[in-house]
Amino acid sequence: MTTLKASQRGLAKVKQTRKEKGWAVYDFRWLEEASLVLGISWEEEGVLASGISESTWKRFLAGKHPINAEAFKAYCQVLGLNWNEIVEGRDRKDWGKAPDVSIFYGRTSELTTLEQWIVRDNCRLVEIFGMGGMGKTALAAKLAQRIQHEFEFIIWRSLLHAPPVEEILAELIQFLCERQETDLPNNLDSQILRLLKYLRSHRCLLILDNAEAILQNGDSLGNHFTSCTGVYQNGYEGYGQLFKCVGETLHKSCLMLTSGEKLQGLAELEGETLPVRSLHLKGLPEAEGRNLFSAKGSFTGSDKEWRAVISHYAGNPLALKLVASAVRNYFGGSISCFLEFLNRDSFIFDDIRALLEQQFRRLSHLEQEVMSWLAINQEPMSFEELQRDLNSHLSSGQLLQILAALQRRSMIEFNADRFTQKPVIREYIITQLRSKVCQEIKEVKIEDLNQYFNLESTHLKRFTHSDLVKT
Ligand SMILES: Nc1ncnc2c1ncn2[C@@H]1O[C@H](COP(=O)(O)OP(=O)(O)O)[C@@H](O)[C@H]1O
Ligand SMILES: [Mg+2]
Repeated sequence: MTTLKASQRGLAKVKQTRKEKGWAVYDFRWLEEASLVLGISWEEEGVLASGISESTWKRFLAGKHPINAEAFKAYCQVLGLNWNEIVEGRDRKDWGKAPDVSIFYGRTSELTTLEQWIVRDNCRLVEIFGMGGMGKTALAAKLAQRIQHEFEFIIWRSLLHAPPVEEILAELIQFLCERQETDLPNNLDSQILRLLKYLRSHRCLLILDNAEAILQNGDSLGNHFTSCTGVYQNGYEGYGQLFKCVGETLHKSCLMLTSGEKLQGLAELEGETLPVRSLHLKGLPEAEGRNLFSAKGSFTGSDKEWRAVISHYAGNPLALKLVASAVRNYFGGSISCFLEFLNRDSFIFDDIRALLEQQFRRLSHLEQEVMSWLAINQEPMSFEELQRDLNSHLSSGQLLQILAALQRRSMIEFNADRFTQKPVIREYIITQLRSKVCQEIKEVKIEDLNQYFNLESTHLKRFTHSDLVKT
């Protein structure tokens, strides 16, 4: 005998509809009507239909134990509910490679905002974007776990290895149709339409993690002046079409994306009162940063030192985890000793370097140049200063585009009319520049040096003179 029980979300719905109907919980009419649904008239036959009884009705309402499927469906029908939306799915959650988030600190306001967007406002597409290691994946997993009862279907997929959009669509459709469809459409438009059909008939949460993997690197457009962020790689434009359709079309589901960069084409659909929204994820505040450290062992440091180390790494959870291990292993847990070392010799862990390198590779040539200027200059720079220092081979419009792209990539910040970088990013750039300059000096003859410096600006001279002393 097949048995079914209501999901938590289903139970809430049952309760609400029951109240709306106005019959008392144990009104006999519930059983009478359910029997009628199953083809037995209580009045004529004097017995209730098989499976319909006060005890199954009680168990149906309590939702702790499953009941006979026929009775379950009949009770739903009497309530005017679609049993598919009430039943607890047996395998309607596919968490794919979602990470374990049992250890998770803070992010209360981000979780509340996202929950409001998805549950209260029924947003159809929500994007979480920000620098690598900021905790986008962890946040998405925590949120999905928290709001899972709101959904009939949940599926998590990673785009890390850039699967073709048709492959992902086929997986999503197969999952949502519970593998009932045998003739899946083979062109993109029809596949998207088929997916939308399910997004309309069920409340589903789809999560696509690491969307940056399907985006182009900065220079791939071949046009140095057009900074491209959030542009799909060749052959992956179908994702753009999918996201746009999910955002624009009326349905009752939600697609949540995580990405290092904001995706192109979604901005025009986005808005505070529109069903498409994005959240720029920034670093963890000090208290949560300290929690991340504590999970690795015990540390000593004054409040000021803690603040210094956490803000140095921009509250990036991944960077902080790596730093915590190093401080524990090489500095006896003393934040103070670590900071002293950091001040003496700017120093980047291999893992953090790899993380930054990965993000740098995505930048266009010009974006890298602007990043270098900002790093060399040390102080926050205004738009005019940047333009002057870049020897103005860029028009204002072009520079503005580049700065906007860098902001979308979370590489720079804009405060009080000035552009700045996080210390760890600056340090990385300076280290790279320093080794590049040293390498080039080794390679050029002394008489070429003058020419070399003439080609570069006064800033580079300043940088080479002051910073090279360290090498
Ligand atoms: N709020 C948090 N609490 C505890 N650990 C976190 C938190 N956010 C991120 N982390 C950890 O930091 C690392 C990087 O997070 P991740 O979500 O993978 O970043 P992203 O997806 O932005 O690259 C992971 O090991 C993750 O578990
Ligand atoms: Mg991630």
